[in-house]
Amino acid sequence: MHFPVEAKLKDGSRVQLVLAGQADVEPLRLLYQVIVAEGTSYPHDRFPDHEDFMDYWFRGKSTVAAYLIERSLDSRMLGAFYLKPNWPGRARQVANAGFVVAPEWRNKGLGWLLGATMLQYAAELGYRSVIFNLVFSENQAAQHLWKKLGFRVLGAIPGAVRKDDGTYQDAVVMFRSLKEASGQEFEASLIHENRTGY
Ligand SMILES: CC(C)(COP(=O)(O)OP(=O)(O)OC[C@H]1O[C@@H](n2cnc3c(N)ncnc32)[C@H](O)[C@@H]1OP(=O)(O)O)[C@@H](O)C(=O)NCCC(=O)NCCS
Repeated sequence: MHFPVEAKLKDGSRVQLVLAGQADVEPLRLLYQVIVAEGTSYPHDRFPDHEDFMDYWFRGKSTVAAYLIERSLDSRMLGAFYLKPNWPGRARQVANAGFVVAPEWRNKGLGWLLGATMLQYAAELGYRSVIFNLVFSENQAAQHLWKKLGFRVLGAIPGAVRKDDGTYQDAVVMFRSLKEASGQEFEASLIHENRTGY
């Protein structure tokens, strides 16, 4: 996979996906602050401290960030994903990934672009499948998108997620094999690259 990946969104905006480096840490922090404040997709109920944030988004992971190609129009990070092994050792060929798209950039196809890029990249890195552990059951946009990208629901974790009003919602576990996608077996190298030095 050669980064940057360049593409056009549904509204004609031209975006590029880059392998994240040190310069992307602050833009991702700003974006993830919005996601944590929304409280409808990730388990953090407050913004993590610096070490936890770096662990969650960068250390031992590939991190990919989306920007407008013409950054003078908007220099903020539009979206991002991380990719990592879901488990170590014998199960390390099952990947896990996390996605965020800034609210004002949703429903333009960026989530699909990030997801499709992740699938191709994961296959190239030697993963055999991808699991999403905790898709909030009320997060219909995410479930719709993951199904469109070939994921299926394996099951639900009843009452896994506390909501702001004190009630609980389920989370679903979603899975997709990469073997049909790549058509061949890779020796799992699973070497993660981002350019932050972690
Ligand atoms: C989930 C997320 C990444 C999707 O990003 P996006 O850029 O909006 O994705 P896309 O534009 O490619 O696709 C969104 C799809 O969801 C659909 N959608 C939007 N809101 C929906 C809803 N309430 N119910 C059902 N489908 C919905 C859109 O119609 C679109 O589908 P289509 O292309 O078939 O019309 C984005 O909403 C996001 O960052 N949410 C907060 C973080 C998050 O949920 N991350 C994933 C955790 S599992």
